[in-house]
Amino acid sequence: MIYKGLIEKYRKFLPVSDSTPVISLNEGNTPLIKASNLPQQIGFNGEIYFKFEGMNPTGSFKDRGMTMAVSKAVEAESKVVICASTGNTSASAAAYAARAGIKCVVLIPEGKIALGKLSQAVMHKAEVLEINGNFDDALNFAKELSEKYPITLVNSVNPYRIEGQKTAAYEICESLGEAPDYQFMPVGNAGNITAYWKGYKDYNKAEPSKYALPKMMGFQAAGSAPIVEGHPIANPETIATAIRIGNPASWKTAEGARDESNGVIDKVTDEEILEAYRIVAATEGVFCETASASSIAGLIKYVKQGYFKNNKLGKAVCILTGHGLKDPDTAVSNAVKPKKVKANMKDIIDAIGF
Ligand code: F0G
Repeated sequence: MIYKGLIEKYRKFLPVSDSTPVISLNEGNTPLIKASNLPQQIGFNGEIYFKFEGMNPTGSFKDRGMTMAVSKAVEAESKVVICASTGNTSASAAAYAARAGIKCVVLIPEGKIALGKLSQAVMHKAEVLEINGNFDDALNFAKELSEKYPITLVNSVNPYRIEGQKTAAYEICESLGEAPDYQFMPVGNAGNITAYWKGYKDYNKAEPSKYALPKMMGFQAAGSAPIVEGHPIANPETIATAIRIGNPASWKTAEGARDESNGVIDKVTDEEILEAYRIVAATEGVFCETASASSIAGLIKYVKQGYFKNNKLGKAVCILTGHGLKDPDTAVSNAVKPKKVKANMKDIIDAIGF
């Protein structure tokens, strides 16, 4: 059967009917890549897998939620969608709105958006408003606008977003033939951890003997770790701009996922994030964005802390939520610079070091 996106594939698990217009870019069906070098390198004697969500049509997991949110908005005859975003949500909302032929308004924190994400939003003809505040401020404005005007909010407080995003857990279960033992993932506004947990619970409920429940291991950036600190952070900071969030909308459900699964929500420093970001690109050939690398940084931290001495080894899935090409500036400024070489064979051979 030709793959036509996640709504067609998982229709029976989603709140859609035959009359829902399906707005799709064939999102989902992303690769689950088994790590070949990382386990040995970090001293983890289990199996590590990457769910490479950067392979979605706009380069991040947001497309899973957006196919649902925009389809339902069109079904409800909405003509405008709005979101606040650290970048990826706006890129995805703009693309799906363009495909649906409706208007998209995005509110982004000034100067803190990776260029690739901004380029997507403008190319898809969204109305992009850079506000001189952070993501949390932007989300408050977007919520208020959607309450006062006929505009549909497509942030993850929109329940259809969560419904679409939970399908990634189904795919992992199907690819492995079982649920993983651990899922490591970034936490920002906390919609995605909420969605994955819902997805794992759906499969567990449908076939409990086949699909157990993984431990949910969520990681915030140290400068933007409100759930870990136990209070909102007024001025969140981190190099991982996608998760530069001080007051997550899905705070409570993220804690629910952590507690019900016997997992953790912890923090990783920018240095740990950057190291994981480089390692996975250099040793596995997988280029993800910095926020995504916090999942791997979390796994490395827990290996170092000896967590797996007391907990069973097994299968750990790291969610790589967005593609590294979203933010080439961060990549180039954190990697070795290209050597400048004169255009003659001798100099080139010398530079290679033969
Ligand atoms: N990873 C990436 C690449 C993201 O863009 C985000 C969130 C997250 C992880 C965290 O997911 O918010 O569900 O906990 N980005 C949002 C945005 C906030 O506006 O693009 P979460």
